[in-house]
Amino acid sequence: NEIYFAGLTGRVPTMPMVYADLEARAAQALPPSILSYVAGGAGDEATQRGNVDAFARWGVVPRMFVGAKERDLSVDLSGLKLPSPLFLAPVGVVGLCTQDGHGDLAAARAAARTGVPMVASTLTVDPMEQVVPELGDTPGFFQLYTPTDRELAASLVTRAEAAGFKGIVVTLDTWVTGWRPRDLSTANFPQLRGHCLANYFTDPVFRARLGKAPEDDLMAAVGLWAQLFGNPLTWEDLPWLRSLTSLPLIVKGIQYPDDARRAIDGGVDGIYCSNHGGRQANGGLPALDCLASVVDASGDTPVLFDSGVRSGSDIVKALALGARAVGVGRPYVWGLALGGVDGAVHVLRSLLAEADLLMAVDGYPTLADLTRDALRKVG
Ligand code: FNR
Repeated sequence: NEIYFAGLTGRVPTMPMVYADLEARAAQALPPSILSYVAGGAGDEATQRGNVDAFARWGVVPRMFVGAKERDLSVDLSGLKLPSPLFLAPVGVVGLCTQDGHGDLAAARAAARTGVPMVASTLTVDPMEQVVPELGDTPGFFQLYTPTDRELAASLVTRAEAAGFKGIVVTLDTWVTGWRPRDLSTANFPQLRGHCLANYFTDPVFRARLGKAPEDDLMAAVGLWAQLFGNPLTWEDLPWLRSLTSLPLIVKGIQYPDDARRAIDGGVDGIYCSNHGGRQANGGLPALDCLASVVDASGDTPVLFDSGVRSGSDIVKALALGARAVGVGRPYVWGLALGGVDGAVHVLRSLLAEADLLMAVDGYPTLADLTRDALRKVG
């Protein structure tokens, strides 16, 4: 309504209202190497495109005489009341996408202003202790890329708990970087050097291992990080991971029902169905096509979802397929790149407004009403 009424007085939005425009304008605003880093995916990016296309194969069935005048979009996640079923997926090195370099703080401020929870990446420009206060009352989660050094992993998690994060998200699919031709052809990693390692550089265990201040020898610090990063976890590691925290533990990257079942048996509190936005493995399935079977295997354990969500109707479809909460990655990064905190707020509010309006028009007043009956395959 705000946008329509502003239009009556002649004011038109300066930010794009359609995802394709958002992406195109951000592409003009960002330096080529940063653009490649954010936009790029694995291989010829067929899986990345497939993630997006998968949503068009489902249609929401409109129901009448429902009178869905009030909608409630809050969700319960392992006892944690989230104000919104939308969340900010973890995006490493997001700092490079804002003009002042503090994209993590900007994302947290956007989360605070919209009530959209944030999952903060391990790989941030701003250390986690600075991110949490910016979230205000909006819950934040810490995403862990598990280092090979168990004491360092424990230290990162302990710090996340002390900083005030409400849960730990362990990403399983990125102990090695996928084959990303756009990254490789723009060779952007030299530019990223050291810029995403604030959580490591401020960590007492990391500093002890390095034996000197990272600021005094950046190359040695980056070298040590590269050595410690990337732990190919196995099921044998799950009890140890579980023992690291009493906070809700969520595992990210699950696409196979038995993996979900086994992780739940191992004590995790949430399953995060995602293919990393198609950045890690090409030649795969659209993440959306894996969602229903992962939800079925997860029983009462909540399933989070991301990969390919570009609109409010995409959010509604993922919720109807059983996701408890739905994440976006690139959409909010484009918002940050174009307009900083305000840009990200615009993107998040637009996504939520579209989802909310769709639920109103189609007669689904609460998230509990959004079951698989709300969807039909198109065609
Ligand atoms: C990511 N993603 C990611 N995931 C994670 O667990 N830790 C991380 O540090 C990052 N870093 C990252 C950087 C960039 C530039 C992107 C685009 C993505 C993956 C992210 O959390 C999420 O799974 C995908 O972005 C979801 O797909 P969409 O919404 O981008 O299509």
